[in-house]
Amino acid sequence: MQKFFTLNDLDVKGKRVLVRVDFNVPLDNDGNVEDAKRIELSVPTIKYLLEKGSKQIIIMTHVGRPKNNEKNLQTDKIAKKLESLLNEKVAKVDGWSHVSDSKLVMLENLRFNPAEKSKNQEDRDVFGKQLASLADVFVQDAFSNCHRDHASMTSVPKYLPSYAGLSVGKEIELISRAITNPKKPWVVIFGGLKADKLNVMINIMEKADTILVAGALAFTLLKAKGIEVGDSKIDNEGLDSLPELVEKVTSSSKVKLPVDAVIADKFAPDAKSENVDISAIKKGWMVLDIGKKTIKQYKETLEKAKTIAWFGPIGVYEFEKFAQGTKEIGKVMASLTKKGVTTIIGGGDSAGAVESMGLANDMTLVSSGGGASLEFFEGKKLPGIQALEESYKRFNK
Ligand code: 3PG
Repeated sequence: MQKFFTLNDLDVKGKRVLVRVDFNVPLDNDGNVEDAKRIELSVPTIKYLLEKGSKQIIIMTHVGRPKNNEKNLQTDKIAKKLESLLNEKVAKVDGWSHVSDSKLVMLENLRFNPAEKSKNQEDRDVFGKQLASLADVFVQDAFSNCHRDHASMTSVPKYLPSYAGLSVGKEIELISRAITNPKKPWVVIFGGLKADKLNVMINIMEKADTILVAGALAFTLLKAKGIEVGDSKIDNEGLDSLPELVEKVTSSSKVKLPVDAVIADKFAPDAKSENVDISAIKKGWMVLDIGKKTIKQYKETLEKAKTIAWFGPIGVYEFEKFAQGTKEIGKVMASLTKKGVTTIIGGGDSAGAVESMGLANDMTLVSSGGGASLEFFEGKKLPGIQALEESYKRFNK
């Protein structure tokens, strides 16, 4: 189990606090925020620090993957959005070395500084030290970036006592518990396209009671078992590069694959469709959702679970006609949360699906990070979390 400082350990009164958030949000061409969810996620941490009397809060984030310090990737409009959510002035400063004496300050996009992502540890440490010199303590609230070994994530904690923010603390606690000590039965649903999720499947296979597979991933595995999948989208590259994993997964009795599917004659919302058994997928047609029998079986399994994690959409939920599987799984999970079942949505596309159905608030946790939560479930140590643990060892005197 991780050991790091949390906000409960921090007497923040009169202190300058450097807060790493992940405000890597979708922006339009003028830099306006199109979706503020990730900003909203860190508002409780910032409010907490304000209420507890911190002297100054310096907020830092990366945005996008800039090549040329593009103007629309500056943090100005993000600062404005935060200002409106907090109802407090947020002063945007240029660069990273000087801050005004405003109570709330937003630094420039960290990735405008090449040292942030530099491959050279020394360069990252120099930048991390410079950032750390702005404050007395560091708060890490960017779970969705914890899989990145970047200066603001892993160098800053070398120089300042570092604390997990509220959203990071919640994500780490819930996901760690699911991995190490889940309330049983533990059922995990895998959808989406990429076969790289097989690594996650393997890591949790021992602890999980049942693994339900859907999405293009299921048809990738069915194809590996020699079943005709027509023109369905499959991850050929994954199949070729991960043959041992495919074998391990397809031969496990814990892993359930669809028994029927909704097939379509083209990839379009108005495609002709049919619900067919898995052995009757027509050549030239493609699977766009799981079928009715599979939905029923998967729901029955979920209804017995005490912990559920879900990665990747079940079908092409963007097309109403093929959204049934995703909707039914989302709805059953939402109703189970109310009965005390722990329900975790693994970020990325499945988070988008749950949000588009208006069910995000009905889950125990919708992870903020696609890449970060997959790596965490895969059993990898996330550099951002490791840095918090090392900082704890260094400053817990
Ligand atoms: C994310 O959106 O997953 C994080 O902000 C990390 O962004 P990156 O994939 O550009 O490193």
